[in-house]
Amino acid sequence: MTTFPKLLQEKLLAAFIKAGHSLPAGFQPQISQATDSRFGHYQCNAAMVLAKELRSNPRALAESVIAIFDGAGLCETPTVAGPGFINFTLTTEAITARITPMLADARCGVAKVKAPLRIVIDFSAPNIAKPMHVGHIRSTIIGDSLARVSRFLGHEVTTDNHIGDWGTQFGIIIHGWKTILSQEALDANPSAELLRVYKVLNDQIKAEDGTETITVCRQELVKLQQGDEENLTIWRRCVDLSLNSLANVYRLLDVSFDHFLGESFYNDALAPLVEKLKAYGIARESDGAICIFSDGQKSPADDPFKIQKDGEWLDVPAMIQKSDGGFLYATTDLATIDHRAREFKADAIWYVVGVPQQLHFRQIFDAAIRCGHTDIEFKHVAFGSILGQDRKPFKTRSGESVELLDVIEESIDRARKVVEEKNPELTTGEKADIAEIIGIGAVKYSELSQNRLTDYVFDWEEMLSLRGNTAPYLLNAYVRTRAIFRKLGEDVTDFGTEFELTEENEVALLVKLYQFAETVPEVLTDHRPNMLATYLFETAKSFHSFFEACPVLRSEGVTRATRLALCELSSRVLRQGLELLGLRVTERM
Ligand code: ARG
Repeated sequence: MTTFPKLLQEKLLAAFIKAGHSLPAGFQPQISQATDSRFGHYQCNAAMVLAKELRSNPRALAESVIAIFDGAGLCETPTVAGPGFINFTLTTEAITARITPMLADARCGVAKVKAPLRIVIDFSAPNIAKPMHVGHIRSTIIGDSLARVSRFLGHEVTTDNHIGDWGTQFGIIIHGWKTILSQEALDANPSAELLRVYKVLNDQIKAEDGTETITVCRQELVKLQQGDEENLTIWRRCVDLSLNSLANVYRLLDVSFDHFLGESFYNDALAPLVEKLKAYGIARESDGAICIFSDGQKSPADDPFKIQKDGEWLDVPAMIQKSDGGFLYATTDLATIDHRAREFKADAIWYVVGVPQQLHFRQIFDAAIRCGHTDIEFKHVAFGSILGQDRKPFKTRSGESVELLDVIEESIDRARKVVEEKNPELTTGEKADIAEIIGIGAVKYSELSQNRLTDYVFDWEEMLSLRGNTAPYLLNAYVRTRAIFRKLGEDVTDFGTEFELTEENEVALLVKLYQFAETVPEVLTDHRPNMLATYLFETAKSFHSFFEACPVLRSEGVTRATRLALCELSSRVLRQGLELLGLRVTERM
């Protein structure tokens, strides 16, 4: 099914050509959804764009085009508004005619892309034996949704969890393992015990302000890196234990990965990589370390290896090998790119990582391109911070950083109260299932409904509210669509072929439902799941208005068939849309 904007675009382009205007090469009128429904369903600013180019009057130009525009079977005669907008109102016949094909389409009208890409998505990536903090929550939830949307659109997606399993923290953990670990506590709750060990020693190091503990830890790290058997065994155990408890979090969140290629996986590739970078002249020695510098090819403002200070441009090299021989985060990331190019044949690699790592990614992308990875499209899908009610970084009451598992558990707990209130007659088992769906959905949705770059305040009351742009509100709309068919006592599979739209609410809802096909691809334009969230919120609102204004089961004949079809399509679009955001739906709540 070709979307309405696409059809309008074709017809409008034909009119522009027929009107005899000299069009710039590749000219395509852009059709967008009307900002105000009083002006119709769609609008176009092409006359204004073109008039600027041709130095003519935009309104007159728009008038000349709509005079010969042929919208037969699609829309009313367009109107010109304001400085030269062309407004389109679809005909009720055109809207009605689409019900049958939409009902027959299991993809809710969403077409697959014509040229699928091999996309690697790097997200979540927590660090072993350190808590998975709120930054990792954002990465996990946004990354998973982008993976779902890309797959649905037909791209070939590889999800890769670049676990931090080879950092300097292992010096501390190994020393702690040998000296203060409680085997009993480890058996009971491995990640909590590893974290305790890490924290105790970390605090000790800070308090000492000296060298004692930190020196031993460094020695343990060097031994590990040199392949010491005992330390490698401890490291392996720590990684396995942490991966186990992570698996639990991912299962709860319904997030999966094709690969868990952590930093350690690239260990053997690092030394040869540094040699290669030196041979290419991309990296060189500086004060005993090996660093990547600017290639001098870009203007300083576009050069990730330059920074302006007091009016002067200074070098900001990226270190890839320390003077003691150790490798760094950037070295591993460059080796990772080689692997993803070779093994996954990546056309695009997306990194869902917080804003603070922006310079790091600009530098490694630049270096990778200079190394020959010119046909990969790199993208840092950055995000801001989650704040507490005090607008400071989100912390627990005792000031610790918040752990994902605790957030999920608390959310499920609070959701149980919502279910209890709304539907006390459900069984305990049903309530528990529904609380899990709502609780986890609320955490995910409060993330996905935000513009990823803005910092947002984490608010339990708001995210679990049944009103407003929240998971419970959307789930409730879905539940309402299902309740109709439950009351009817059957799942309708045949809606007939005769439909008639009589109410404005029906038309508005239906046009909204068709726009699902326009919205899903938009998510990937700038990697923004909130485009889809906003759409689903509007769809839910539109459904509620329809539902309140138009009786379904109490209506008759064609009207009833039409309204049942609308309920069915709303149900499908909401379920599919929520699924693309990674939310499970429930039939009751
Ligand atoms: N482990 C890193 C962190 O917690 C994130 C890794 C992101 N991915 C990457 N390829 N650098 O900050």
